[in-house]
Amino acid sequence: MKKKQRREIYLDCAATTRQKPPQVLRAVVRYASDIGASHGRGAYRSGIAANEMVFQARAALARWFNAPRMDRIVFMKNATEAVNTALKGFLKNGDHVVLSALEHNAVIRPLNRLKAPRDIGYTLVPANNLGRINPYDFEQAFKPNTKLVCLTHASNVTGNISPVAEVGALCAKKGIAFLVDAAQTAGCAPLSLKDSHIDFLAFTGHKGLMGPPGTGGLVVAPQWNLDSLIEGGTGSNSDKEDQPQQWPDKFESGTQNYWGLAGLGAGVEFLLRTGVETVRKKEEALTTQFLKEAEKIKGVRIYGLPSNSVKERVGIVSLNVEGKDPSEVGYRLDEEYGIMTRVGLHCAPLAHRTIGTYPIGTVRFSFGYYNTEKEVETALKALKIIAGS
Ligand SMILES: Cc1ncc(COP(=O)(O)O)c(C=O)c1O
Repeated sequence: MKKKQRREIYLDCAATTRQKPPQVLRAVVRYASDIGASHGRGAYRSGIAANEMVFQARAALARWFNAPRMDRIVFMKNATEAVNTALKGFLKNGDHVVLSALEHNAVIRPLNRLKAPRDIGYTLVPANNLGRINPYDFEQAFKPNTKLVCLTHASNVTGNISPVAEVGALCAKKGIAFLVDAAQTAGCAPLSLKDSHIDFLAFTGHKGLMGPPGTGGLVVAPQWNLDSLIEGGTGSNSDKEDQPQQWPDKFESGTQNYWGLAGLGAGVEFLLRTGVETVRKKEEALTTQFLKEAEKIKGVRIYGLPSNSVKERVGIVSLNVEGKDPSEVGYRLDEEYGIMTRVGLHCAPLAHRTIGTYPIGTVRFSFGYYNTEKEVETALKALKIIAGS
């Protein structure tokens, strides 16, 4: 007898978007089967096609981020590498950094690594009990040697969108560089590099931008230079034994993830055609639907801003069920209802300390462009039963 297929509802889009537009998969297969060559290396036909593909992917991202210069979009394997490059390539001995208490380990771990060898100091800016950040607390934390402010555009724990424009304006006023971690917002929430005075923008390709894993990058404002994290072959200036200094080559040593970049380019093209407002509207509607009902369930504690402030949220909802460990709730959601969520600390222990959920963490539901109202309805029914039993 044929085994009944298990129904699955994927609500872990903050980790990675599992469903991609079909164009993304087609672009990866097309690149792998029809092109397959390295970029910047071969003068033969498929080598030139590879150059064209990388150019198009970078151009699509430049349009998406409204970046002033394409050469300032550097491809990397994820947001983590981008943040590492910005911190390690920018900070000098004795510098001070200000960051929010909601940052991901992608920020705090490299910063801690730099603390002793470069004598880097940092100040954490707290958030209130809803995980909301007051931009003026950043100003209070500035010191004469503050060189950089780091802020996540949206917390991957609370889902709250940070006041980047206000913090960016304060940084610009003081001549302090501003690094924004857009891992949770690139592709699903509007952001203006110019209006928010962003100097370094770290993005990942596999979440909202709909690309494959192993893609991401750093957008750098034209007035800044950075040291590279690694050096090696770039396909350019091969007569020299020193690293080329032109962008983006300086930061793109070694053979890159071309299959991934082909998919990322197609993902961004899809988003450009769809429009960020359409994506945002869809995710906002699903988040409102979920929050409004979940707020009524007895024994469920939701973190982050309430349903009437959904405009200041992305499609992430962290919660706990009274008397139950998050891992038990997550296990039952998966085992009994086929609903995939992420439980625990979400690589962001700082954020959990801030909202008071350290060390057990929370159950995180995260919605994406391809989720449906019906899926949210099913998740709410499951949550009600688990909370009541
Ligand atoms: C806020 C935030 N920053 C950084 C990252 C790191 O992204 P990646 O794993 O793609 O490097 C994540 C990933 O979950 C994140 O949520």
